[in-house]
Amino acid sequence: MTENLSSSFGTQMFPHASHFNIQGGIFNAAQNVNITYADRAQVNVPAGYIEGMTDCPTSTLLFTGRETVLNILGDYFITDLMSKDIGRRKLFLLHGLGGAGKTQCALEFARKFKKSFSVIYFITAESENSIMASYYDIAMRNGSLPVQGWESGFRWFKMHEANWLIIMDNADDPQLSLGRFLPSCDHGNIIITSRNPDLMQIAAKI
Ligand SMILES: Nc1ncnc2c1ncn2[C@@H]1O[C@H](COP(=O)(O)OP(=O)(O)OP(=O)(O)O)[C@@H](O)[C@H]1O
Ligand SMILES: [Mg+2]
Repeated sequence: MTENLSSSFGTQMFPHASHFNIQGGIFNAAQNVNITYADRAQVNVPAGYIEGMTDCPTSTLLFTGRETVLNILGDYFITDLMSKDIGRRKLFLLHGLGGAGKTQCALEFARKFKKSFSVIYFITAESENSIMASYYDIAMRNGSLPVQGWESGFRWFKMHEANWLIIMDNADDPQLSLGRFLPSCDHGNIIITSRNPDLMQIAAKI
């Protein structure tokens, strides 16, 4: 298989962030939380919430290639100093055309390096609703009573100075205010996948 990849770093719009453009590929492939149901009660439950929706899926069994981008992700998140050691959140944008393999690269990276992270959450970033439902799930699984709805899950990341990883997948909608949904803190790791070539400009707000 021929890899057709290009990379660029150091955008000013995404301070301290990196990104990688994945161009089209051809593939031959086909804690013990003590919360009762009453506690879980319908307080500010976002539409579309499904219990466990932020479990990180595994990459396809047919995953092949993409060594270049996997190495770049490995260098950025693993080989270099950890985010909590440098006191800076790490953020990496994988952008490219639909079907190019962005999501699969993020999932394969998570599979290969899961031991390097304290926890990995997968957030479907297609819409504000899907993001809010995901943060609500994270609140529920971490035992935060979501009296304040999804924001309890959002705040969990800021409060936990661990080497967590969030995959924000399919943040394609140019209308989405992605920045307001990225925990703003001095630790943690985020991978965004997006088709939106304008995301770096939009990311100036982040
Ligand atoms: N490295 C790979 N090895 C084998 N198959 C792959 C690989 N990457 C992607 N695929 C196949 O291509 C399909 C599309 O990949 P993926 O969902 O990662 O694309 P994407 O860039 O995230 O697309 P979209 O922008 O639509 O979300 C996958 O379902 C998988 O079947
Ligand atoms: Mg995708």
